[in-house]
Amino acid sequence: MKYTFQTSTCRENTNAEKYVLREKLFGTNEVMPLWVADMDIDTPDFVLDAVRKRLEHQIVGYEELPQSAFLAQIEWMKKEHGVEFALEEMLYSHSVVASMNVAIEAFTEKGDKVIVQTPVYPPFFHSVIEHERELLKNPLKLRDDGTYTFDIEDLKSKINEKTKLLLLCSPHNPVGRVWRREELEQILELCVKHNIVVFSDEIHSDLVYAPNVHIPFASLSADARDITVTAIGIGKSFNMAGFAISSVAIQNKILRENFLKVYNRTHFANGSTLSHVAFEAAYRDGKEWLEELKIHLYKNFYMLDELCKKYPHYIKLTPIEGTYLAWLDCRGLGFGDRELRDFFIHKAGLGLSAGISFGREGSGFMRLNFAISSDKMLEVIKKLDEALLLKCRQ
Ligand SMILES: Cc1ncc(COP(=O)(O)O)c(C=O)c1O
Repeated sequence: MKYTFQTSTCRENTNAEKYVLREKLFGTNEVMPLWVADMDIDTPDFVLDAVRKRLEHQIVGYEELPQSAFLAQIEWMKKEHGVEFALEEMLYSHSVVASMNVAIEAFTEKGDKVIVQTPVYPPFFHSVIEHERELLKNPLKLRDDGTYTFDIEDLKSKINEKTKLLLLCSPHNPVGRVWRREELEQILELCVKHNIVVFSDEIHSDLVYAPNVHIPFASLSADARDITVTAIGIGKSFNMAGFAISSVAIQNKILRENFLKVYNRTHFANGSTLSHVAFEAAYRDGKEWLEELKIHLYKNFYMLDELCKKYPHYIKLTPIEGTYLAWLDCRGLGFGDRELRDFFIHKAGLGLSAGISFGREGSGFMRLNFAISSDKMLEVIKKLDEALLLKCRQ
């Protein structure tokens, strides 16, 4: 392997959100932060070198996102995910969540219903509520083997003529599913039948573990192309969220124009010059690094899995297909949600995301971000092992 990911650059005393907000979120700085979804893994050199090179030019003025950047992305999407987008279908956005908010405004009106499949990344439901749209909750179904799937019957029973938009998380944060074609097709059938636009958040699509394969929603069929707004972020894959750049692909011209009408009002324009360069470099040169990263991430997950197997009555680790976010079923510990959070903070010294923040269905769960160096992962395992052992002895 060319990259080892054994260590990573220290982020303490930088403005890293994951560290800076510890006191506010956990009441102490004495926790290893395993919450917000960026990586404690160095942003790759081919990205940083491209930025350094750009800075050799003395002027950093307004710039357009160059065609070559989108062409690099289009090529990546075709090779990696088997979906073909044309240049005119691609739009810049500084953030996937911002794009989601634009979609809510563009495709729904106050009082319309927007489908959200909980437990899910909190901005999905916050965005709907903030826009005064009605939240149509279609909770995922938890199966006996600890994995989740869509609850299509529940969805069928709730859709009505006010239902205008579905916010799909694919792959899914926090439950780690990479949706199968048959599952997506069921969603598609319903959305086509009821004229529902699908906002498909595919920000985690590059972080999928073999043999699982990410299927872009827009690639399902011509019908899917017609109703889908695909949000693709690069921040997760190459740990460059700080560049604040992502993109949106909309193949249906009318949907694209409606999206743009709202988008242009916000005046987000074209983003930052340095992010353009970083974006292109990642798509152009990122394949080898990303493949090695995924091997590393899966090793970390495996370590966590081995640990959880030592305490099966306390923690069940949800099988993972994609993302670097482990979903821990901690109901066996017998704590309420506050106590559970406190256990991780004060007994294990770990700052995780509370499952309940992803929706009521997340009660009794915790989300652990395992995108860290192997040295740090060993530390996490040690801390959690000690806390669980102590709990056993009580
Ligand atoms: C599913 C999902 N969508 C969007 C985001 C955030 O994307 P952005 O920073 O581009 O708004 C995250 C970050 O954790 C995420 O997990």
